[in-house]
Amino acid sequence: MPRTQRQIVLRRRPEGLVVPDDTELVSVPVPEPADGEALVRITYVGVDAAARTWLDDQPGYLPPVQIGEVVRAAGIGVVEESRCDAYAVGDVVTMLAGFSEYTIVRDDLFCTPVDPEYVADHQAVLSLYGPTGATAYFGMHGVGKPQAGQTVVVSAAAGATGSVAGQIAKIAGARVVGIAGGPEKCRAVVEDFGFDACIDYRAAQGGQGLDAALKEHCPAGVDVYFDNVGGEILDAVLGRLAHNARVVLCGVISSYLTGEHPGPSNYVNLLAKTATMQGFNALNEWEHFDEAFAALRRWDLEGKLVHRETVYDGLESCVDALNGIFTGTNTGKMMVKISEP
Ligand SMILES: NC(=O)c1ccc[n+]([C@@H]2O[C@H](COP(=O)([O-])OP(=O)(O)OC[C@H]3O[C@@H](n4cnc5c(N)ncnc54)[C@H](OP(=O)(O)O)[C@@H]3O)[C@@H](O)[C@H]2O)c1
Repeated sequence: MPRTQRQIVLRRRPEGLVVPDDTELVSVPVPEPADGEALVRITYVGVDAAARTWLDDQPGYLPPVQIGEVVRAAGIGVVEESRCDAYAVGDVVTMLAGFSEYTIVRDDLFCTPVDPEYVADHQAVLSLYGPTGATAYFGMHGVGKPQAGQTVVVSAAAGATGSVAGQIAKIAGARVVGIAGGPEKCRAVVEDFGFDACIDYRAAQGGQGLDAALKEHCPAGVDVYFDNVGGEILDAVLGRLAHNARVVLCGVISSYLTGEHPGPSNYVNLLAKTATMQGFNALNEWEHFDEAFAALRRWDLEGKLVHRETVYDGLESCVDALNGIFTGTNTGKMMVKISEP
């Protein structure tokens, strides 16, 4: 009898949040690695907004997941069998896998052995010492470049990327104001992540409420805005820019479910304030990830940086975790535990 594993496959392209008929939990044989391949038992999958965009039939930096294929997600796991010189049994690797209990890896860009320094903490490898930490580092340190005394605003501030990005700005000596949904998240942003203040955008109820809150918390304007959400929040912050401000376009989570990107009317303020707005893709910095992890590690060891994770339990909770990114059930990095590390 072949060993079996469970996976979540795409059955229909979702519209908005993923509903039960969009995916199916199936049982299939655990694959045998061929020459040049290794079999990995997945311990955690990271849940990112990008995983939802891959379910749409839209071109992106990776092809869309096809109907019948495993829902794609980043993961970490332990090599159980190897016919690949790059990996030995027992190695811990990160890989582009999916909502699955096992996966096959090869010696390519999509699989990386984990540095022995981080290997004991699988959760931290998916959050601080993974793409999320690198995104926060390159976006804030490399693009936003906050200076001591400047005012920095970060949206989705309680999330994986935003919480780390804001702390990097604090380390640079800036005054940091977060934007997050709900009183508990705003408490975490200030008390756990050490921001100076946090605006509850749900309580602000859109345009005018946000304008008033930004005026109160950023009286001299916003020097750096690290934007994870786009839409109405981006527009409000554009209306409050300081001279020579820098707007870092990290993501537009407010529009991934609809695919519609309402234009910000306050973009004219970029002209008046001689401000710049720049997008970036952390994956373009792939060759410099070690530099990011070394800096994050140093700050972590010095007690200047905290990271948090929201961990759902079991493969069957992957879809709930994916939807949770959009309904805001996570503080810090959203992930699902699949098996014991
Ligand atoms: N440029 C890059 O290279 C790169 C790389 C990775 C990720 N990203 C982007 O970074 C952003 C954050 O990703 P993450 O993985 O760190 O996720 P995350 O911030 O941990 O989770 C997403 C958070 O977004 C907030 N949110 C969801 N829908 C929203 C809406 N309509 N309006 C306002 N806030 C909303 C929710 O928090 P609240 O409860 O506070 O609403 C939710 O917890 C995403 O836009 C992602 O695409 C960019």
